Amino acid sequence: MKIPFLNLTRHSHKLLKETTQAAARVIERGNFILGEEVREFENEWSKYCETVGAVGVANGTDAITLALIASGVGQDDEVITTPLTAAYTSLAIVNAGAKPVYVDIDEKTFNLNPEKIEPAVTPRTRAVVPVHLYGQSADMRAIAEISECHKLLVIEDAAQAHGARFDGKPCGFSSLAATHSFYPTKNLGAFGDGGAIVSSDEDFLNKASILRQGGHADAFELNLIGRNSRLDEMQAAILRVKLKFLDEWTRRRRELAEIYFERLKNFPRLQMPFVREKSVFHLFVIRHPDRNGLKNHLAEKGIETLIHYPYLLHEQKIFRGDGQKSLPVAEKIVKEILSLPLYPELETAEIEAVCAAIEEFENK
Ligand SMILES: Cc1ncc(COP(=O)(O)O)c(C=O)c1O
Repeated sequence: MKIPFLNLTRHSHKLLKETTQAAARVIERGNFILGEEVREFENEWSKYCETVGAVGVANGTDAITLALIASGVGQDDEVITTPLTAAYTSLAIVNAGAKPVYVDIDEKTFNLNPEKIEPAVTPRTRAVVPVHLYGQSADMRAIAEISECHKLLVIEDAAQAHGARFDGKPCGFSSLAATHSFYPTKNLGAFGDGGAIVSSDEDFLNKASILRQGGHADAFELNLIGRNSRLDEMQAAILRVKLKFLDEWTRRRRELAEIYFERLKNFPRLQMPFVREKSVFHLFVIRHPDRNGLKNHLAEKGIETLIHYPYLLHEQKIFRGDGQKSLPVAEKIVKEILSLPLYPELETAEIEAVCAAIEEFENK
């Protein structure tokens, strides 16, 4: 049995009729930029995220950059963040003119370790960008407390955590803003690129919406140096169709995760994801001392796995600042992580086959 890591065709096929109708609606209306679909999606997304508002932007990277700029972070400011995430989180910080400063991650959750923030604070530190990696929220209570103590802004990178919560509170609740990516593989994915910033600070939202349009507050005046980074009507229309199914997909992700937890719990070499609260399981990432051996074994059985992420950002020449310390936990974990297939359309028989292949490797 061939089991791909992800099957977007299967995913898109289920909503072919509804998404085609939504696309036709946009084409017939003939308004492709910042119209009714974006406005309605922003309302629906902010309601879903339980924030006052949302600003649709071109992608998740720009969402972070624009949120940082709108909050006043810029040239030569330091931003504390995690080394284990998509490179885009750091690129967004650099694009805002700031400098990423990396601290180590928590050995259990793989998210930014709040205890490591304080020792990294300098007079130039302005913000913290935690990432809710793989769908599990970072410890937002501790991060908010430390940040408040040092007067640091917090922008949460929730690209992988649509609907995730910490202490029952949604992403964006304990911070100035949370940012989202709607890259097609995300839990809520567009048919192209898309992103959003959510916040409950109206002045900040207003500034972010000016910045995404080059800096125009209206047609006659350029108020800020902004970007051209708008969510377009077509993607917003698709996202509105798909948003109605997000909770159902998250439930299925959790159901599949339970199968992995149950079937794979008795293998001492295999470390399952630590879930403090209900993760939205964007990815299901295990740890194994012979990660490459297991990966190759699964590949021989036709099962595709990936590594999120194969390198750490504090070790990349383009990001590494002078004086960047080694980060032992991240450096150990990066050699052992493996992402198993998990997406709502994965069939029970398929996940059972993945489990059987892992069991075979462990019993060898
Ligand atoms: C954690 C994280 N942050 C930021 C991004 C960037 O999002 P986008 O690809 O929409 O720019 C991604 C997606 O790759 C991501 O996974």
